[in-house]
Amino acid sequence: MQNFKMVAKTFFGFEEILAEELRVLGGSNVRVGVRNVTFEGDTGFMYKANLCCRTAIKILKPITEFRAHNEEELYRGIQKINWRKYMTVTSTFAINATVHGELFKHSQFVAFKTKDAIVDKFRKEEGTRPDVDTKNPDLRLNIHISNNYVNVALDSSGASLHHRGYRTSTNIAPINEALAAGLVLLSGWKGQCDLLDPMCGSGTMLIEAAMIAMNIPANLNRKEFAFEKWSDWDVDLYERIEQSALKRVTDCPFTIRGYDKAPSVIEKARENIKNAQLEEFITIERQDFFESEKDGDDFLQLIFNPPYGERLPVDVDRFYGQIGDTLKQGYPGTHAWFVTSNMEGLKHVGLRPSRKIKVFNGKLESRLVKYEMYAGSKKGKYMNDGEE
Ligand SMILES: C[S@@+](CC[C@H](N)C(=O)[O-])C[C@H]1O[C@@H](n2cnc3c(N)ncnc32)[C@H](O)[C@@H]1O
Repeated sequence: MQNFKMVAKTFFGFEEILAEELRVLGGSNVRVGVRNVTFEGDTGFMYKANLCCRTAIKILKPITEFRAHNEEELYRGIQKINWRKYMTVTSTFAINATVHGELFKHSQFVAFKTKDAIVDKFRKEEGTRPDVDTKNPDLRLNIHISNNYVNVALDSSGASLHHRGYRTSTNIAPINEALAAGLVLLSGWKGQCDLLDPMCGSGTMLIEAAMIAMNIPANLNRKEFAFEKWSDWDVDLYERIEQSALKRVTDCPFTIRGYDKAPSVIEKARENIKNAQLEEFITIERQDFFESEKDGDDFLQLIFNPPYGERLPVDVDRFYGQIGDTLKQGYPGTHAWFVTSNMEGLKHVGLRPSRKIKVFNGKLESRLVKYEMYAGSKKGKYMNDGEE
């Protein structure tokens, strides 16, 4: 099978992590961009990237690129594409457009113009036209315009890849699954010690961590990928890829646990864990973190996203102070990582982070911070807080 270029999209701050995922999976010419990684592979690798990448939110397959300085040139460029290769007159389609630069300013307008060019072409040649279906189309197109440079791609994923399929129940501030996986990977946890999410909400961080530790493909529970509706969809090839990924699944000898103080949330976390078929590997307890202590002497890693004060009302200064106090007093022999967009809150933790990594949670600029608590000392280690 022939290799072609693909673009995996991700969140700011996770490009290197995604590139490493793609390299390990076997992608060629992996190159890091901003919020994306380009790579090469064949159709089987495209299936694999969709199935296995934890930090990708889309895998795009570019089909052509051209220059356009105005809407007329855009229209003509789109009409030059041999659309019959990808769809028929009875196919439905949807267009997602993004624009950067001075020439094209409205993504909706670009999507509209592209749609016109496609349907006009079919109408002219076949007397009838394909319909648009934004919810469940047969073909999803992605148009990216940067100044006068137009890139047209097929979207092989469909709904964002963070829709893993296991999360049926959420609290009011669940973290995006791909982001949760990225944070766990950024922290370096791969199943080498016990893990606790002390504010686990609907359990996303724990489920993603367990899948990382056991090498379970991220999208094993997902219902559908867009490529399943393509004319070259090869179900046998996909099944072979899935089977070979499943052969690499391992056990995790360490404990993966979650606490949350809200009883309603505990049930939701358990339901999601059951959907992901990970009940055997993750335990959830109703527990106020601020009244907890580390169990035993084994080294422990914490990873969590505390309320930022955006969607969940909290007294930020006091709350972040309590995080620091709990870590100092109750968690010797622990590395604690958490993500927050609340920079003011961070000042009240009262410990100096040993790492501080800039990431984005949706549009919220955030920091993933690490605090190292040493065994035998009630103090956190004070280190430089140089930001990465
Ligand atoms: C932003 S949410 C976490 C979301 C979670 N990562 C998810 O994917 O659903 C913060 C969670 O912290 C919990 N929480 C707040 N204070 C807590 C405390 N003192 N102890 C334990 N959990 C707490 C809340 O109930 C809420 O579920």
